[in-house]
Amino acid sequence: MKVAILGLGSVGRGVISVLARKDLGIVVTGIADSRSGVMDPAGIDLAAVLTRKAETGRCGEPDILGEDIVKNGDYDVLVEVTPTDIVTGEPALTSIRTALSRGKHVVTSNKGPLALQYTELMRLAEENGVHMRYEATVCGAIPIIQTLQHGLAGNKVHAVYGVLNGTCNYILTRMADEGLTYDQALAEAREMGYAEADPTSDVKGIDTALKLVILANTIWKNGVTLGDVDCTGIDLLTAEALTLAESQNCTIRLIGEVVPERDLLRVSPCILPKKHPLVVRDTLNAVTVVTDMAGAITQVGKGAGSVETASAVIGDLLFIRDCHVRGD
Ligand SMILES: NC(=O)c1ccc[n+]([C@@H]2O[C@H](COP(=O)([O-])OP(=O)(O)OC[C@H]3O[C@@H](n4cnc5c(N)ncnc54)[C@H](OP(=O)(O)O)[C@@H]3O)[C@@H](O)[C@H]2O)c1
Repeated sequence: MKVAILGLGSVGRGVISVLARKDLGIVVTGIADSRSGVMDPAGIDLAAVLTRKAETGRCGEPDILGEDIVKNGDYDVLVEVTPTDIVTGEPALTSIRTALSRGKHVVTSNKGPLALQYTELMRLAEENGVHMRYEATVCGAIPIIQTLQHGLAGNKVHAVYGVLNGTCNYILTRMADEGLTYDQALAEAREMGYAEADPTSDVKGIDTALKLVILANTIWKNGVTLGDVDCTGIDLLTAEALTLAESQNCTIRLIGEVVPERDLLRVSPCILPKKHPLVVRDTLNAVTVVTDMAGAITQVGKGAGSVETASAVIGDLLFIRDCHVRGD
């Protein structure tokens, strides 16, 4: 199976390093970063590309762009792992539409296009007889989309609750453990590399809301978008609020919740007993799915990281490869 990869940052490098060391029957025929690209229908030397990127900041030639690879490349699956734009979804949205329209499968870790145009992209994939997969967009390494689509198939899902943002969870853990203020805990999260230079999307709950939108569309195909989410972040939480919760043997977590029967689509800081399954520590994510047959199922794991996110991308690729082999 031939794969083209757009984006050679944390996730793209994770995917390529795994493909370089594991024999998964996947040949990479195109790779692009923001300023260069490389194409070879016979298969690219992945170790050489990683070295070139590390040494020069570019993966290939400046006259090969990602859009050339998407439009003209020889590949079966486009792996789209470029930065998230939550206003336009671009340039990822155009790349994904182009690839699907060419009858190519798509695997992405990018929340923007799916949170903005979930219904359209799924319809486009179906019309072209290809897969549009996005496990890495929600909860990093936790296979929550596969669980919903396959493991829990046939269940009626009543609700989903989750700790979906590791940066916020780290800040809340540190505030509770050490009595830090929000600003002190955020500064520490930055030092540790857990928070972006601009942490707005994380701390205001927007990143969690995007993931909720993707989960809600996956389960209920209800066409909700970011504007439908009632969203409160953690940026106004005080150290006193955490201390008060601690005195009751509770703590605070930023919880995303979707309960369609109650018309609820909300992100907000919630007080939870310390033994609650969603009270995970540091940068971990946790997600609970409440169903009619299986009851409540909670999965916990790493929500971000280069190889952890690559795990989700590779899982999607192998799902598509195995469908290929069966001729689905
Ligand atoms: N990091 C995680 O743990 C994680 C987890 C889950 C989901 N995600 C999502 O996965 C995506 C990638 O994340 P990341 O952490 O790998 O981001 P990143 O480190 O910022 O890397 C982004 C990569 O995309 C490249 N790029 C930018 N514009 C491009 C274009 N027009 N065409 C081709 N390549 C382009 C960049 O090129 P240059 O190298 O030239 O700058 C860079 O290589 C994001 O949407 C993110 O939200 C990340």
